[in-house]
Amino acid sequence: MLKTQASLYERAQKVTPPIAQRATQLGVVKAEGSYLFGEDGKKYLDFASGVAVMNVGHNHPKVIEAAKSQMDDMIHGGHNVVYYPSYIELAEKLNELNGGDHMVYFSNSGAEVNEGAIKLAKKVTKRPAVISFKRGFHGRTLATTSITASSAAYRKDYEGLMPSVYYADYPYAYHSGLLEEEEVNRCLQQLEELFKFQIAPDSVATIILEPIQGEGGYIVPPKEFLVKLRDICDQHGILLTFDEIQTGFGRTGKMFAYEHFDVKPDILTLAKGIASGFPLSALIAPKEIMEKWPAGTHGGTYGGNPISCAASLASIEILETEGLKNAGTMGRYFKERLLEIKEEHSGIGDVRGLGLMLAMELIKEDGSPDSERLGKLRTYAQEQGVILLGCGTEKNVIRFIPPTTVTKEEIDLALSVVKEGLKIN
Ligand SMILES: Cc1ncc(COP(=O)(O)O)c(C=O)c1O
Repeated sequence: MLKTQASLYERAQKVTPPIAQRATQLGVVKAEGSYLFGEDGKKYLDFASGVAVMNVGHNHPKVIEAAKSQMDDMIHGGHNVVYYPSYIELAEKLNELNGGDHMVYFSNSGAEVNEGAIKLAKKVTKRPAVISFKRGFHGRTLATTSITASSAAYRKDYEGLMPSVYYADYPYAYHSGLLEEEEVNRCLQQLEELFKFQIAPDSVATIILEPIQGEGGYIVPPKEFLVKLRDICDQHGILLTFDEIQTGFGRTGKMFAYEHFDVKPDILTLAKGIASGFPLSALIAPKEIMEKWPAGTHGGTYGGNPISCAASLASIEILETEGLKNAGTMGRYFKERLLEIKEEHSGIGDVRGLGLMLAMELIKEDGSPDSERLGKLRTYAQEQGVILLGCGTEKNVIRFIPPTTVTKEEIDLALSVVKEGLKIN
């Protein structure tokens, strides 16, 4: 076929900088459920979900209806100016979902809400330091770049970042080769050494972490580690912050990943899946903490946009009525199949994850990371109409993040493509 028009990708190369580069060169014109529709006329099974955002699928009719109805009433009143129903209703709902006695503050993005968490912790404790974790990812603003340690590339040339940030080891038994219990002890020991040699615990405002690391490689810590961290924070008056920006809103088969570990944070940050693609993020903390955050000491113009809040309420309802249950069932099915594939391929070192936050770590014969295979697999999958993303500091982890509404047939289709793609050398 004679090509007459430049593709969206080709046009983008002329007017957008390298920093705006995408994980694919795909131009899309429409999205629905688990699918993206390309400008090439092809239909793509989307197991990237806009990087774990479209947790109830693309353009869910209930989300569209809620957003349209809110748009008719009001687009923006300003959360610094007036009170409006969708904002308050969503705050009430998020409070209820977190056990009550909490308060909620809305922002726009993941990075922005993590900025808020750092500021809240500093304001309330009057302490300077923050501890985050190696392989952790928290955003790309300057403060969140400072607490991100999933790759030096995110920090290079930006150094001279926020001071008083210290990095702890996150348990990754597959990587260290230790037994889970030994790995937890190793990490807790390193944290103790941090307290002993570098930063006194009573100078630490918050320990911030993802309860399951996302960008760093879909690493699930043993429950014991989070339980111990909770104890350490209580012992030293440190606020424990969970960044659930990627793990929240049904991704792991529960509304929030912390529910798997029976460990509650002091500060919870949420974004991505919260509003099915409308920009919104939320910071949630117990009343006694939030009441110490004086008016005007943090803020922004657009936080808690009425349409985003309405879309969020609809998204939560979908998760409660169908998404959470399906994510649990489909997640178990998907993981079992991935484990079967692992048995057939020595190039798969590990299969891990919870719910529909699943991943396969790809390795070479000598056990070293195989990022090349990951590239080939992603390219092949896209040619076959399946969109997959990578992650991991060594760029050798393929992640599967379909919507919570995904069907068994869609999972089977993706798996058959993955199986074939793994055969490519
Ligand atoms: C765990 C986590 N925290 C924070 C962020 C940053 O969110 P945003 O891109 O909305 O700023 C991300 C984004 O990938 C994330 O996965």
